[in-house]
Amino acid sequence: MKITVVGTGYVGLVSGACFSEVGIEVVCVDIDQKKIEKLKNGIMPIYEPGLEEIVKRNYASGRLQFSTNLGEAIQGSEVAFIAVGTPPGEDGSADLKYVLAVADEIGRTMSDYIVVATKSTVPVTTGEKVRAAIAAAQEKRGTNIPFAVASNPEFLKEGAAVDDFMKPDRIVIGVDDERAEEIMKRLYKPFQLNGDRIIYMDIPSAEMTKYAANAMLATKISFMNDIANLCELVGADANMVRKGIGSDPRIGNKFIYPGVGYGGSCFPKDVKAIIKTGKKYGYELRVLQAVEDVNDDQKYVLVKKVKQHFGEDLSGKTFALWGLSFKPNTDDMREAPAIVIIDELIAAGAQVKAYDPIAMKEAQHIYVGDKITYAKDAYDACVDADALLLITEWSEFRIPSWSALGKLLKNKVVFDGRNIYDKSYLAENGFEHYGIGTQD
Ligand code: UGA
Repeated sequence: MKITVVGTGYVGLVSGACFSEVGIEVVCVDIDQKKIEKLKNGIMPIYEPGLEEIVKRNYASGRLQFSTNLGEAIQGSEVAFIAVGTPPGEDGSADLKYVLAVADEIGRTMSDYIVVATKSTVPVTTGEKVRAAIAAAQEKRGTNIPFAVASNPEFLKEGAAVDDFMKPDRIVIGVDDERAEEIMKRLYKPFQLNGDRIIYMDIPSAEMTKYAANAMLATKISFMNDIANLCELVGADANMVRKGIGSDPRIGNKFIYPGVGYGGSCFPKDVKAIIKTGKKYGYELRVLQAVEDVNDDQKYVLVKKVKQHFGEDLSGKTFALWGLSFKPNTDDMREAPAIVIIDELIAAGAQVKAYDPIAMKEAQHIYVGDKITYAKDAYDACVDADALLLITEWSEFRIPSWSALGKLLKNKVVFDGRNIYDKSYLAENGFEHYGIGTQD
Protein backbone atom coordinates (compact mmCIF):
# COMPACT_ATOMS: atom_id res chain seq x y z
CA MET A 1 0.00 0.00 0.00
CA LYS A 2 1.27 3.44 -0.87
CA ILE A 3 0.18 6.78 0.59
CA THR A 4 1.22 10.42 0.38
CA VAL A 5 1.36 12.77 3.32
CA VAL A 6 1.44 16.46 2.45
CA GLY A 7 3.08 18.73 5.00
CA THR A 8 6.06 17.67 7.11
CA GLY A 9 5.07 19.65 10.19
CA TYR A 10 4.27 18.02 13.45
CA VAL A 11 1.26 15.99 12.42
CA GLY A 12 2.44 15.17 8.90
CA LEU A 13 5.92 14.03 9.77
CA VAL A 14 4.88 11.92 12.74
CA SER A 15 2.00 10.34 10.78
CA GLY A 16 4.12 9.65 7.71
CA ALA A 17 6.96 8.16 9.73
CA CYS A 18 4.63 5.98 11.81
CA PHE A 19 2.73 4.69 8.75
CA SER A 20 6.06 3.69 7.19
CA GLU A 21 7.03 1.98 10.44
CA VAL A 22 4.21 -0.56 9.97
CA GLY A 23 5.26 -1.32 6.40
CA ILE A 24 3.28 1.17 4.34
CA GLU A 25 5.09 2.94 1.52
CA VAL A 26 4.95 6.65 2.36
CA VAL A 27 5.98 9.76 0.48
CA CYS A 28 6.12 12.85 2.68
CA VAL A 29 5.76 15.99 0.61
CA ASP A 30 6.56 19.56 1.51
CA ILE A 31 7.03 22.72 -0.56
CA ASP A 32 9.98 23.68 1.64
CA GLN A 33 12.96 22.31 -0.30
CA LYS A 34 15.41 22.96 2.56
CA LYS A 35 13.27 21.03 5.02
CA ILE A 36 13.02 18.10 2.64
CA GLU A 37 16.80 18.06 2.11
CA LYS A 38 17.37 18.13 5.85
CA LEU A 39 14.95 15.27 6.41
CA LYS A 40 16.77 13.23 3.77
CA ASN A 41 19.92 13.86 5.78
CA GLY A 42 18.28 12.75 9.00
CA ILE A 43 17.88 16.27 10.44
CA MET A 44 14.52 16.64 12.16
CA PRO A 45 12.66 19.99 12.02
CA ILE A 46 11.19 19.33 15.48
CA TYR A 47 12.21 17.60 18.66
CA GLU A 48 10.00 14.62 19.37
CA PRO A 49 11.12 11.57 21.35
CA GLY A 50 11.62 8.51 19.12
CA LEU A 51 10.87 10.28 15.84
CA GLU A 52 14.41 10.63 14.49
CA GLU A 53 15.06 6.92 14.87
CA ILE A 54 11.88 5.94 13.00
CA VAL A 55 12.49 8.46 10.21
CA LYS A 56 16.10 7.37 9.69
CA ARG A 57 15.31 3.66 9.77
CA ASN A 58 12.43 3.84 7.31
CA TYR A 59 14.15 6.32 5.03
CA ALA A 60 17.15 3.98 4.84
CA SER A 61 14.86 1.06 3.94
CA GLY A 62 13.19 3.15 1.21
CA ARG A 63 9.70 2.82 2.71
CA LEU A 64 9.70 6.47 3.69
CA GLN A 65 10.54 9.01 1.03
CA PHE A 66 10.72 12.78 1.01
CA SER A 67 9.79 14.92 -1.95
CA THR A 68 8.73 18.39 -3.03
CA ASN A 69 6.78 17.01 -5.97
CA LEU A 70 3.17 16.36 -4.95
CA GLY A 71 1.97 15.47 -8.45
CA GLU A 72 4.56 12.71 -8.68
CA ALA A 73 4.05 11.47 -5.12
CA ILE A 74 0.31 10.83 -5.47
CA GLN A 75 0.72 8.55 -8.49
CA GLY A 76 -0.14 5.11 -7.17
CA SER A 77 -1.08 6.46 -3.72
CA GLU A 78 -4.37 5.19 -2.34
CA VAL A 79 -4.63 7.99 0.19
CA ALA A 80 -3.28 11.56 0.25
CA PHE A 81 -3.30 13.08 3.71
CA ILE A 82 -3.43 16.84 3.95
CA ALA A 83 -1.41 17.78 7.01
CA VAL A 84 -0.37 21.32 6.19
CA GLY A 85 -0.70 24.28 8.54
CA THR A 86 -3.97 26.06 9.25
CA PRO A 87 -2.67 29.24 10.91
CA PRO A 88 -5.21 31.51 12.59
CA GLY A 89 -6.27 34.30 10.25
CA GLU A 90 -6.58 37.86 11.54
CA ASP A 91 -10.05 37.18 12.93
CA GLY A 92 -9.01 33.97 14.75
CA SER A 93 -10.60 31.57 12.31
CA ALA A 94 -8.39 28.92 10.67
CA ASP A 95 -6.86 30.03 7.38
CA LEU A 96 -7.43 27.30 4.80
CA LYS A 97 -5.29 28.64 1.98
CA TYR A 98 -2.62 25.93 2.31
CA VAL A 99 -5.17 23.12 2.62
CA LEU A 100 -7.06 24.27 -0.46
CA ALA A 101 -3.87 24.81 -2.47
CA VAL A 102 -3.00 21.16 -1.85
CA ALA A 103 -6.51 20.07 -2.84
CA ASP A 104 -6.19 22.08 -6.04
CA GLU A 105 -2.85 20.50 -6.89
CA ILE A 106 -4.22 17.02 -6.25
CA GLY A 107 -7.11 17.81 -8.60
CA ARG A 108 -4.65 19.00 -11.24
CA THR A 109 -2.34 15.98 -11.03
CA MET A 110 -4.33 12.91 -9.95
CA SER A 111 -4.67 10.08 -12.43
CA ASP A 112 -6.53 7.47 -10.41
CA TYR A 113 -9.09 7.11 -7.61
CA ILE A 114 -7.67 8.54 -4.40
CA VAL A 115 -8.92 9.26 -0.90
CA VAL A 116 -8.01 12.79 0.14
CA ALA A 117 -8.07 12.89 3.92
CA THR A 118 -7.58 16.01 6.02
CA LYS A 119 -5.38 15.43 9.06
CA SER A 120 -4.80 19.08 9.85
CA THR A 121 -7.29 20.53 12.33
CA VAL A 122 -9.83 22.09 10.03
CA PRO A 123 -13.17 23.78 10.67
CA VAL A 124 -16.42 22.01 9.94
CA THR A 125 -17.30 22.20 6.21
CA THR A 126 -13.64 22.05 5.12
CA GLY A 127 -14.25 18.56 3.69
CA GLU A 128 -16.76 20.08 1.31
CA LYS A 129 -14.34 22.85 0.33
CA VAL A 130 -11.61 20.30 -0.36
CA ARG A 131 -14.03 18.29 -2.48
CA ALA A 132 -15.04 21.39 -4.44
CA ALA A 133 -11.41 22.45 -4.99
CA ILE A 134 -10.44 19.03 -6.36
CA ALA A 135 -13.51 18.89 -8.59
CA ALA A 136 -12.89 22.42 -9.91
CA ALA A 137 -9.25 21.65 -10.70
CA GLN A 138 -10.29 18.50 -12.53
CA GLU A 139 -12.96 20.34 -14.46
CA LYS A 140 -10.39 22.88 -15.64
CA ARG A 141 -8.28 20.18 -17.21
CA GLY A 142 -11.32 18.29 -18.46
CA THR A 143 -11.13 15.18 -16.27
CA ASN A 144 -13.63 13.58 -13.92
CA ILE A 145 -11.60 10.93 -12.11
CA PRO A 146 -13.48 9.62 -9.09
CA PHE A 147 -12.12 10.47 -5.62
CA ALA A 148 -13.33 10.64 -2.04
CA VAL A 149 -12.71 13.08 0.75
CA ALA A 150 -12.35 12.04 4.36
CA SER A 151 -11.67 13.67 7.69
CA ASN A 152 -9.17 11.87 9.88
CA PRO A 153 -8.26 14.24 12.73
CA GLU A 154 -5.13 13.59 14.74
CA PHE A 155 -5.15 13.47 18.54
CA LEU A 156 -1.45 13.08 19.25
CA LYS A 157 0.23 15.02 22.02
CA GLU A 158 3.55 16.74 21.50
CA GLY A 159 6.28 14.99 23.43
CA ALA A 160 4.44 11.65 23.19
CA ALA A 161 3.44 11.84 19.53
CA VAL A 162 5.06 8.64 18.26
CA ASP A 163 3.61 6.64 21.09
CA ASP A 164 0.18 8.20 20.69
CA PHE A 165 0.21 7.44 16.97
CA MET A 166 1.39 3.85 17.35
CA LYS A 167 -1.03 3.11 20.21
CA PRO A 168 -4.04 5.35 19.67
CA ASP A 169 -7.02 5.57 22.05
CA ARG A 170 -9.21 5.88 19.02
CA ILE A 171 -9.04 6.66 15.34
CA VAL A 172 -11.80 8.93 14.09
CA ILE A 173 -12.66 8.70 10.42
CA GLY A 174 -15.28 10.84 8.77
CA VAL A 175 -16.14 9.37 5.40
CA ASP A 176 -19.11 9.13 3.06
CA ASP A 177 -17.86 6.66 0.48
CA GLU A 178 -17.71 2.88 0.94
CA ARG A 179 -14.59 2.37 -1.11
CA ALA A 180 -12.79 5.05 0.89
CA GLU A 181 -13.92 3.44 4.16
CA GLU A 182 -12.43 0.10 3.05
CA ILE A 183 -9.13 1.76 2.17
CA MET A 184 -8.95 3.58 5.51
CA LYS A 185 -9.79 0.33 7.31
CA ARG A 186 -6.88 -1.42 5.60
CA LEU A 187 -4.54 1.47 6.30
CA TYR A 188 -5.28 1.56 10.02
CA LYS A 189 -5.45 -2.18 10.61
CA PRO A 190 -1.91 -2.35 12.04
CA PHE A 191 -2.81 0.21 14.72
CA GLN A 192 -5.83 -1.57 16.14
CA LEU A 193 -3.79 -3.50 18.65
CA ASN A 194 -6.60 -4.34 21.02
CA GLY A 195 -9.93 -4.61 19.31
CA ASP A 196 -11.66 -2.12 17.15
CA ARG A 197 -10.58 1.42 17.86
CA ILE A 198 -11.86 3.01 14.68
CA ILE A 199 -14.93 5.18 14.95
CA TYR A 200 -16.55 5.91 11.60
CA MET A 201 -18.84 8.86 11.21
CA ASP A 202 -19.90 11.54 8.75
CA ILE A 203 -17.34 14.15 7.74
CA PRO A 204 -18.71 17.19 9.66
CA SER A 205 -18.92 15.12 12.88
CA ALA A 206 -15.29 14.02 12.50
CA GLU A 207 -14.21 17.63 11.93
CA MET A 208 -16.22 18.74 14.96
CA THR A 209 -14.85 15.90 17.13
CA LYS A 210 -11.34 17.32 16.89
CA TYR A 211 -12.38 20.78 18.09
CA ALA A 212 -14.69 19.42 20.75
CA ALA A 213 -11.90 17.20 22.14
CA ASN A 214 -9.39 20.03 22.44
CA ALA A 215 -12.02 22.46 23.72
CA MET A 216 -13.09 19.97 26.41
CA LEU A 217 -9.49 19.43 27.53
CA ALA A 218 -8.85 23.18 27.60
CA THR A 219 -12.05 23.58 29.62
CA LYS A 220 -10.81 21.12 32.24
CA ILE A 221 -7.62 23.11 32.66
CA SER A 222 -9.27 26.54 32.86
CA PHE A 223 -11.91 25.17 35.21
CA MET A 224 -9.21 23.87 37.51
CA ASN A 225 -7.21 27.10 37.33
CA ASP A 226 -10.35 29.02 38.26
CA ILE A 227 -10.98 26.72 41.22
CA ALA A 228 -7.31 26.94 42.23
CA ASN A 229 -7.48 30.73 42.35
CA LEU A 230 -10.53 30.51 44.60
CA CYS A 231 -8.80 27.87 46.77
CA GLU A 232 -6.12 30.42 47.58
CA LEU A 233 -8.73 32.92 48.76
CA VAL A 234 -10.78 30.55 50.89
CA GLY A 235 -7.87 28.73 52.53
CA ALA A 236 -8.12 25.48 50.55
CA ASP A 237 -5.40 23.54 48.73
CA ALA A 238 -6.00 22.91 45.02
CA ASN A 239 -3.79 19.79 45.12
CA MET A 240 -6.11 18.21 47.63
CA VAL A 241 -9.21 19.33 45.75
CA ARG A 242 -7.74 17.89 42.53
CA LYS A 243 -7.21 14.51 44.17
CA GLY A 244 -10.62 14.70 45.77
CA ILE A 245 -12.50 15.28 42.55
CA GLY A 246 -10.22 13.23 40.29
CA SER A 247 -11.03 10.06 42.15
CA ASP A 248 -14.55 10.25 40.70
CA PRO A 249 -14.17 8.34 37.41
CA ARG A 250 -16.75 10.59 35.79
CA ILE A 251 -14.33 13.48 36.31
CA GLY A 252 -11.06 11.57 36.04
CA ASN A 253 -7.66 12.48 37.42
CA LYS A 254 -6.07 13.59 34.16
CA PHE A 255 -5.88 17.13 32.83
CA ILE A 256 -6.98 18.80 36.03
CA TYR A 257 -3.59 20.09 37.09
CA PRO A 258 -3.67 23.80 37.81
CA GLY A 259 -0.72 25.75 36.48
CA VAL A 260 0.38 28.80 34.56
CA GLY A 261 -2.19 28.30 31.82
CA TYR A 262 -2.31 26.13 28.74
CA GLY A 263 -0.17 26.95 25.73
CA GLY A 264 1.04 25.28 22.57
CA SER A 265 -0.06 25.36 19.00
CA CYS A 266 -3.37 23.61 19.53
CA PHE A 267 -5.52 24.59 22.52
CA PRO A 268 -5.25 28.38 22.18
CA LYS A 269 -5.78 28.25 18.41
CA ASP A 270 -8.56 25.68 18.45
CA VAL A 271 -10.54 27.30 21.26
CA LYS A 272 -10.39 30.61 19.35
CA ALA A 273 -11.39 28.92 16.10
CA ILE A 274 -14.41 27.08 17.51
CA ILE A 275 -15.64 30.28 19.16
CA LYS A 276 -15.30 31.91 15.76
CA THR A 277 -17.21 29.09 14.07
CA GLY A 278 -20.00 29.53 16.63
CA LYS A 279 -20.17 33.25 15.87
CA LYS A 280 -20.30 32.55 12.16
CA TYR A 281 -23.41 30.47 12.74
CA GLY A 282 -24.91 33.04 15.13
CA TYR A 283 -24.13 31.01 18.24
CA GLU A 284 -22.09 32.20 21.18
CA LEU A 285 -20.01 29.49 22.89
CA ARG A 286 -20.12 31.10 26.32
CA VAL A 287 -18.27 28.40 28.23
CA LEU A 288 -15.37 28.45 25.79
CA GLN A 289 -15.15 32.23 25.85
CA ALA A 290 -14.70 31.96 29.62
CA VAL A 291 -12.14 29.17 29.13
CA GLU A 292 -10.08 31.49 26.98
CA ASP A 293 -10.43 34.47 29.33
CA VAL A 294 -9.40 32.43 32.36
CA ASN A 295 -6.39 31.11 30.48
CA ASP A 296 -5.27 34.57 29.39
CA ASP A 297 -5.34 35.74 33.02
CA GLN A 298 -3.70 32.61 34.39
CA LYS A 299 -0.42 33.39 32.65
CA TYR A 300 -0.04 36.42 34.96
CA VAL A 301 -0.71 34.63 38.24
CA LEU A 302 2.88 33.64 39.00
CA VAL A 303 4.32 37.10 38.40
CA LYS A 304 1.61 38.57 40.65
CA LYS A 305 2.94 36.32 43.40
CA VAL A 306 6.49 37.45 42.68
CA LYS A 307 5.36 41.06 43.03
CA GLN A 308 3.48 40.32 46.23
CA HIS A 309 6.72 38.96 47.67
CA PHE A 310 9.26 41.41 46.26
CA GLY A 311 7.13 44.50 45.53
CA GLU A 312 5.83 45.92 42.26
CA ASP A 313 9.20 47.29 41.21
CA LEU A 314 11.53 44.41 40.41
CA SER A 315 14.45 46.47 39.13
CA GLY A 316 17.80 45.17 40.24
CA LYS A 317 16.34 41.69 40.79
CA THR A 318 17.27 38.60 38.81
CA PHE A 319 15.05 35.57 38.52
CA ALA A 320 16.02 32.03 37.63
CA LEU A 321 13.48 30.48 35.29
CA TRP A 322 13.26 26.73 34.88
CA GLY A 323 11.46 25.63 31.72
CA LEU A 324 10.55 27.65 28.64
CA SER A 325 8.59 25.34 26.34
CA PHE A 326 4.81 25.22 26.77
CA LYS A 327 5.13 21.75 28.30
CA PRO A 328 7.91 19.18 28.90
CA ASN A 329 9.50 16.96 26.22
CA THR A 330 9.12 19.47 23.44
CA ASP A 331 11.04 22.49 22.18
CA ASP A 332 7.78 24.15 21.14
CA MET A 333 7.53 27.74 22.37
CA ARG A 334 4.27 28.60 20.63
CA GLU A 335 1.92 30.40 23.05
CA ALA A 336 4.17 29.26 25.90
CA PRO A 337 3.17 30.88 29.22
CA ALA A 338 6.91 31.51 29.77
CA ILE A 339 6.74 34.24 27.12
CA VAL A 340 4.15 36.25 29.07
CA ILE A 341 5.95 35.60 32.36
CA ILE A 342 9.31 36.77 31.00
CA ASP A 343 7.72 39.87 29.45
CA GLU A 344 6.05 40.74 32.74
CA LEU A 345 9.24 40.30 34.76
CA ILE A 346 11.22 42.41 32.33
CA ALA A 347 8.50 45.10 32.23
CA ALA A 348 8.80 45.34 36.01
CA GLY A 349 12.55 45.92 35.68
CA ALA A 350 13.83 42.42 36.48
CA GLN A 351 16.43 40.33 34.73
CA VAL A 352 15.81 36.73 33.79
CA LYS A 353 18.24 33.85 33.62
CA ALA A 354 16.54 30.88 32.00
CA TYR A 355 17.29 27.24 31.53
CA ASP A 356 15.37 24.67 29.51
CA PRO A 357 16.71 21.22 28.60
CA ILE A 358 15.65 21.51 24.93
CA ALA A 359 13.82 24.75 24.12
CA MET A 360 16.54 27.39 24.58
CA LYS A 361 17.36 27.49 20.89
CA GLU A 362 13.69 28.05 20.04
CA ALA A 363 13.44 30.69 22.76
CA GLN A 364 16.39 32.56 21.30
CA HIS A 365 14.34 33.21 18.18
CA ILE A 366 11.89 35.11 20.38
CA TYR A 367 14.23 36.72 22.94
CA VAL A 368 17.14 38.15 21.10
CA GLY A 369 19.98 40.20 22.52
CA ASP A 370 20.27 40.86 26.22
CA LYS A 371 16.57 40.61 27.08
CA ILE A 372 17.22 37.38 28.95
CA THR A 373 20.29 35.24 29.48
CA TYR A 374 20.50 31.50 29.08
CA ALA A 375 22.12 29.29 31.68
CA LYS A 376 24.20 26.21 30.95
CA ASP A 377 22.23 24.10 33.39
CA ALA A 378 19.49 24.34 35.98
CA TYR A 379 21.86 25.19 38.83
CA ASP A 380 23.75 27.77 36.79
CA ALA A 381 20.45 29.62 36.28
CA CYS A 382 20.16 30.03 40.06
CA VAL A 383 23.58 31.57 40.72
CA ASP A 384 22.90 34.86 42.57
CA ALA A 385 19.24 34.85 41.49
CA ASP A 386 16.71 36.41 43.85
CA ALA A 387 14.28 33.52 43.47
CA LEU A 388 13.50 30.48 41.35
CA LEU A 389 10.44 30.27 39.08
CA LEU A 390 9.43 26.82 37.87
CA ILE A 391 7.46 27.20 34.64
CA THR A 392 7.65 23.85 32.82
CA GLU A 393 7.70 20.58 34.72
CA TRP A 394 10.57 18.80 32.95
CA SER A 395 11.56 15.60 34.83
CA GLU A 396 15.03 16.89 35.63
CA PHE A 397 13.54 19.73 37.72
CA ARG A 398 11.51 17.45 39.95
CA ILE A 399 14.04 16.51 42.62
CA PRO A 400 16.77 19.14 42.72
CA SER A 401 19.31 19.41 45.51
CA TRP A 402 17.73 22.00 47.75
CA SER A 403 20.90 22.34 49.78
CA ALA A 404 22.86 23.21 46.64
CA LEU A 405 20.14 25.63 45.51
CA GLY A 406 20.05 27.22 48.96
CA LYS A 407 23.71 28.17 48.52
CA LEU A 408 23.29 29.49 44.97
CA LEU A 409 20.13 31.58 45.35
CA LYS A 410 20.17 34.90 47.20
CA ASN A 411 16.81 34.09 48.78
CA LYS A 412 15.36 30.68 49.45
CA VAL A 413 12.14 31.37 47.55
CA VAL A 414 10.48 29.18 44.92
CA PHE A 415 7.51 30.15 42.74
CA ASP A 416 6.22 26.80 41.61
CA GLY A 417 4.03 27.29 38.53
CA ARG A 418 3.16 23.60 38.26
CA ASN A 419 2.84 22.53 41.89
CA ILE A 420 5.58 19.94 41.56
CA TYR A 421 7.27 20.65 44.88
CA ASP A 422 6.16 19.65 48.33
CA LYS A 423 5.62 22.77 50.39
CA SER A 424 6.34 21.16 53.76
CA TYR A 425 9.50 19.45 52.48
CA LEU A 426 10.71 22.76 51.13
CA ALA A 427 9.87 24.46 54.42
CA GLU A 428 12.01 21.86 56.23
CA ASN A 429 14.83 22.92 53.94
CA GLY A 430 14.25 26.56 54.74
CA PHE A 431 12.52 27.46 51.46
CA GLU A 432 9.45 29.59 51.01
CA HIS A 433 7.15 28.00 48.44
CA TYR A 434 4.47 29.71 46.37
CA GLY A 435 2.22 27.31 44.46
CA ILE A 436 -0.90 27.61 42.31
CA GLY A 437 -4.03 27.31 44.41
CA THR A 438 -2.12 26.59 47.60
CA GLN A 439 -1.68 28.47 50.88
CA ASP A 440 1.57 30.45 50.76
C1 UGA B 1 -3.16 18.77 22.58
C2 UGA B 1 -4.10 17.57 22.87
O1 UGA B 1 -3.80 17.04 24.16
C3 UGA B 1 -3.89 16.48 21.82
O2 UGA B 1 -4.81 15.42 22.05
C4 UGA B 1 -4.16 17.09 20.42
O3 UGA B 1 -3.95 16.15 19.40
C5 UGA B 1 -3.21 18.25 20.21
O4 UGA B 1 -3.42 19.23 21.23
C6 UGA B 1 -3.48 18.83 18.84
O5 UGA B 1 -4.56 19.37 18.63
O6 UGA B 1 -2.66 18.64 17.94
P1 UGA B 1 -0.58 19.31 23.02
O7 UGA B 1 -0.87 20.69 22.51
O8 UGA B 1 0.62 18.59 22.51
O9 UGA B 1 -1.82 18.33 22.71
O10 UGA B 1 -0.40 19.46 24.57
P2 UGA B 1 -1.13 18.94 25.90
O11 UGA B 1 -0.34 17.86 26.49
O12 UGA B 1 -2.55 18.70 25.66
O13 UGA B 1 -0.95 20.23 26.83
C7 UGA B 1 -1.53 21.48 26.48
C8 UGA B 1 -1.29 22.51 27.56
O14 UGA B 1 -2.11 22.26 28.68
C9 UGA B 1 0.12 22.59 28.07
O15 UGA B 1 0.50 23.95 28.16
C10 UGA B 1 0.04 21.96 29.44
O16 UGA B 1 1.02 22.42 30.33
C11 UGA B 1 -1.35 22.35 29.86
N1 UGA B 1 -1.94 21.47 30.90
C12 UGA B 1 -2.21 20.18 30.62
C13 UGA B 1 -2.22 21.99 32.16
O17 UGA B 1 -1.99 23.18 32.46
N2 UGA B 1 -2.81 21.16 33.08
C14 UGA B 1 -3.10 19.87 32.83
O18 UGA B 1 -3.65 19.19 33.73
C15 UGA B 1 -2.79 19.36 31.56
